[in-house]
Amino acid sequence: MQDNVKVKILGIVGTPIKQGNCQHFLEQALKVAESVGPVETELVHLKDFRIDYCIGCEGCLRRVHRLQKEVGFDVVPVPIEGYNCTIKDDMEILHQKMLQADGILLAAPVYIASMPGQMKTFIDRCRTFVHDFRLRGKVAASLTVAFFRNAGEDTTLQMMTLSLLAIGLTVVSFGASAVSTRDGLGILVHETRFAVTEDIMGMTVMQSAATQVAQTALQMKAGKIALDKAGIQLKSSGWAPAPD
Ligand SMILES: Cc1cc2nc3c(=O)[nH]c(=O)nc-3n(C[C@H](O)[C@H](O)[C@H](O)COP(=O)(O)O)c2cc1C
Repeated sequence: MQDNVKVKILGIVGTPIKQGNCQHFLEQALKVAESVGPVETELVHLKDFRIDYCIGCEGCLRRVHRLQKEVGFDVVPVPIEGYNCTIKDDMEILHQKMLQADGILLAAPVYIASMPGQMKTFIDRCRTFVHDFRLRGKVAASLTVAFFRNAGEDTTLQMMTLSLLAIGLTVVSFGASAVSTRDGLGILVHETRFAVTEDIMGMTVMQSAATQVAQTALQMKAGKIALDKAGIQLKSSGWAPAPD
């Protein structure tokens, strides 16, 4: 049984900047996750994918509701096959990666006390998961990087964390923030390309968050395998049918 207990943690970074502090922060977090045990990681940068805005067509929702009527509202996750969005772009690849992962680390910089539009657009395009519960049982946490200390890290982390919860993930950490300037005072650090590594507090909290994600993912995977082996099927609670 032990051989089966390995997990995949997917890191998703949403910023217009490639190889910046935010990406580096996530890369370090994924290294920490790998050090926890049998953990494989992958980092995807949203800049490498074409992601259009959600158009609010409700196509994903309607398909979920149609299927729920067929199979019953107590079937969780809803057995949607494949990609469930009317927009054909690279989100199909990202949905697939999310479905295959056991844990997700979301990273974005603070932009005007919030996440940048790239990350928000990505999250909006995950609406199917709010209704189909296909991400249930996967763990997650958020990471952010800011210029100044106390200049929007909390709001950004909260928005990302609530978004992760909304799309059905099990958030296992408050997340972590770090600053990309000296002591978070807005003074540029010229000695290193990745000033974020000099934020000892931020790096420490990130290590804790990444460890928590990796450990919990492994424990949940082991639990699922043990339940399967024991032939125990957990009952899902019913879900109120939505009107047409
Ligand atoms: C449009 C914009 C808005 C920003 N807003 C904030 C902010 O509200 N608070 C803050 O501390 N830093 C802010 N920053 C700074 C970034 O969070 C910071 O430079 C961070 O390191 C960027 O991550 P990156 O290095 O991965 O690009 C902003 C940067 C940009 C470009």
